[in-house]
Amino acid sequence: MKVLLVAGARPNFMKIAPLVAALSEHDAFTPWLLHTGQHYDEEMSRVFFDELGIPRPDEDLGVGSASHAVQTAQIMTRFEPVLLRERPALVVVVGDVNSTVACALTAVKLGIPTAHVEAGLRSFDRTMPEEVNRVLTDAISDLLFVSEPAGMANLEREGVAGEAHLVGNVMIDTLLEHEAQARARQAPERLGVEPGEYVLLTLHRPANVDDPSVLGGILDALEEIGRDRPVLFPAHPRTRAAFASGGLDGRVKVMKGLRILDPLGYLDFMGLLSDSMAVLTDSGGIQEETTVLGVPCLTLRDNTERPITIDEGTNTLVGRDPRAILRAFAEIGSGGGRTGRRPDLWDGQAARRIVGILASRERL
Ligand code: UD1
Repeated sequence: MKVLLVAGARPNFMKIAPLVAALSEHDAFTPWLLHTGQHYDEEMSRVFFDELGIPRPDEDLGVGSASHAVQTAQIMTRFEPVLLRERPALVVVVGDVNSTVACALTAVKLGIPTAHVEAGLRSFDRTMPEEVNRVLTDAISDLLFVSEPAGMANLEREGVAGEAHLVGNVMIDTLLEHEAQARARQAPERLGVEPGEYVLLTLHRPANVDDPSVLGGILDALEEIGRDRPVLFPAHPRTRAAFASGGLDGRVKVMKGLRILDPLGYLDFMGLLSDSMAVLTDSGGIQEETTVLGVPCLTLRDNTERPITIDEGTNTLVGRDPRAILRAFAEIGSGGGRTGRRPDLWDGQAARRIVGILASRERL
């Protein structure tokens, strides 16, 4: 059976890698990989394929960047003929990016069974583009593979029609498989920082970077933190553009402690993450990776769709008020930060569980 997997943006690639591997191991399945081209820069895309051993995509739709409507529509119009030609037995979409919802909708409308991996997560904040993508993808998918118990409860409450399975976290499959390799690259040493003595920052959510006054407030907190220790910031292209358009370029250039880097590959980023004193982020996945690595994570958002990282992990929501960020950071400095446990089923076997469920079904 041909299983068509969709990958479009950076956070998809580490979720697709173990699925392609687990499907390839199974006699019944032939994986077929589609890249939508939502992310296209070398360091936002190709480096992840190389480092994670993901085969070259069978097809790349090459959609590139555009407004939400244009990007989503272009993925749909370019994906439909591929589906008609390839006729897969199943389409698998992962995560919550525009490629996820666009490809799920296209496949479902053609009557092709569709599975959503990382289903059920909810921030309950419809101003986040990802939340809209999550709700819509779950509503139409036939199979829903869920990473944490809250996701199962969300799907049940919404009366979602698809068949839901709690399987664990495919992104953590990738982390556990590559952790030793990532550490061996000694990224902190290569960047001239002491393990445990630096802060790692990621920042790219529209709600944090698109408004210069919000972004400026976050910089206030970073300025304080950077007085005592380096803050390493592999900058997303959206944030670099926001510094320029918000008139903040001059300020960040002279900020002591803030080191702006190009986006990093998976292995160097994981190496830096595992040895950092603390992580400041507005990413979704990094809340999960820090939980597994036992690194304190301050999330610069008011909500999370991944509550298990707070209940069991190392995550604390701090919003974007500089005083709240600094207060939470000071607590890490004095007490070492939250310690947590690795959630059940985040054990490196999630993709194999998914493939096992697919194999046990009479029809996909
Ligand atoms: C997308 C996802 C977001 C995810 C993020 C991770 C949606 C709605 N958002 O946001 O959930 O957390 O990816 O990175 O799908 N750009 C480049 N090179 C690239 C890709 C983008 O320069 O390879 C620039 C373009 O100027 C583009 C901007 O980044 O306009 C934003 O890219 P886009 O894919 O629209 O959204 P992200 O902010 O990356």
